[in-house]
Amino acid sequence: MPDIAFVKPALPKGGALVLPLAEEAALVGLAKEADQASGGAIARALEAAGFKGRKGQATTLWAVGGFAKVVAVGLGKEITPEATEAAGGALAPALAQDREALVAAEALDPALAAQLGFGALLRAWRFDRYRTKEKEEDKPKLERLAIAAANPNAAKAAFAPLRAVADGVFLTRELVSEPPNVLHPTEFAERCKGLERLGVEVEILGPKEMKRLGFGALLGVAQGSAQEPRMVVMQWKGAPRGKKQKPLALIGKGVTFDTGGISIKPAGGMEDMKWDMAGAGAVVGAMAAIAGRKAKADVIGLVGLVENMPSGTAQRPGDVVKTYSGQTVEVINTDAEGRLVLADVIWYCQERFDPRAMVDLATLTGAIIISLGHEHAGLFANDEELAQRVIAAGAAVGEACWRMPLGEAYDKQIKSEIADMKNVGGRPGGAITAAQFIQRFANGKPWAHLDIAGTAWSSKDRPTVPKGATAFGVRLLDRLVRDMAEE
Ligand code: BES
Ligand code: MN
Ligand code: ZN
Repeated sequence: MPDIAFVKPALPKGGALVLPLAEEAALVGLAKEADQASGGAIARALEAAGFKGRKGQATTLWAVGGFAKVVAVGLGKEITPEATEAAGGALAPALAQDREALVAAEALDPALAAQLGFGALLRAWRFDRYRTKEKEEDKPKLERLAIAAANPNAAKAAFAPLRAVADGVFLTRELVSEPPNVLHPTEFAERCKGLERLGVEVEILGPKEMKRLGFGALLGVAQGSAQEPRMVVMQWKGAPRGKKQKPLALIGKGVTFDTGGISIKPAGGMEDMKWDMAGAGAVVGAMAAIAGRKAKADVIGLVGLVENMPSGTAQRPGDVVKTYSGQTVEVINTDAEGRLVLADVIWYCQERFDPRAMVDLATLTGAIIISLGHEHAGLFANDEELAQRVIAAGAAVGEACWRMPLGEAYDKQIKSEIADMKNVGGRPGGAITAAQFIQRFANGKPWAHLDIAGTAWSSKDRPTVPKGATAFGVRLLDRLVRDMAEE
């Protein structure tokens, strides 16, 4: 990962130079100086290459004006935080083979210069823990990105909280990318412990404690696995003394591997189910971001961690389990396990913390991918204001959510003949009936549910998100805390 530094504007003698340029705008400042030093060659080359400054456009010029490389990145017509972030994202791949580079961002507002550094950082991340044979020429080399800013100290100050959010995003991407033999529930909980370094209080509950409490639904899922389940409770107490508030609660589905259990999944693509813990991963990353930037809010994070395996001890289709809430569930399909895990964790959360609002994240259903593809997460909520807040927070950070319906008629689909409910509602509206199920464990408290099955992993590069684990939700939750609890 490159270091991001903010420096006083001065043209370097050579090396790699990055020019963030607005659409159809004249060269100014360092860009103009560099162009003049090149005898106008930079402007001519950009023209010849068809560079227009469109948002996200990136053009590399080699060996002009004494620079080894000049990378122009487009800011588009309107220079917004989002556009500068995207420009930062666009420059990262263009600089993969350079050790250092200077970005001429002195014409931008310092806050935007920081946003550009944030975008570059987010895009430059890579998971390479298990590569041992990569050729030297293929390895990314960028060590230092110097960003020239009109006021370097102001840019640096604006960058500090973004750096904390980036660290949260990276923690989540790492957890989601880890293979399932490494990241089982015990190991996941151990990594949550790492947040203590940031001042987060971390409690880990094992099977004994959960059995004593009566977590029959979560434990039913876990019983087929040789790996013990865990629940982790993380608390960040950042609200100023005189301004104590009910906490916001973030809850994540953490199925470290989902085979489907006895209702086993087909083999093709089953390896993807290592990221069935992405909801829990996002909660941990969000807690890291919130604590890392010392948010002035009280936030609780809870994750339910299990592995869903078929075995001689696994739960059967037809089993009836008693949830922590006391409600009973007929388990028709052992592959609808996420809602069983969340049922106990959510009930525990509202009972113990009486939160102002609860937001759960879960890679819950294939059905949400059929509904919304990979462009929006599905949002379900029993509270109008909370729903609007979540949508606004997501829109502000490029993590889009689309509101889905809830209602009596859907709720009927999970009626059981022998228990209080069954864990599946049939194919029609599969993401909705899953949400209906979870809603029964919110106990009427303000609650929102994000089905992130379609957005937790990306098969293509996006401006600030390399393909693979997206960490969807980390930035949204961080923003939600900012907007709801720190105002
Ligand atoms: N983890 C899956 C959902 C999922 C599917 C996430 C594809 C990402 C990609 C979940 O536990 C599951 O298996 N859901 C079932 C529910 C069904 C049995 C009612 C599904 O969506 O098929
Ligand atoms: Mn499943
Ligand atoms: Zn699952």
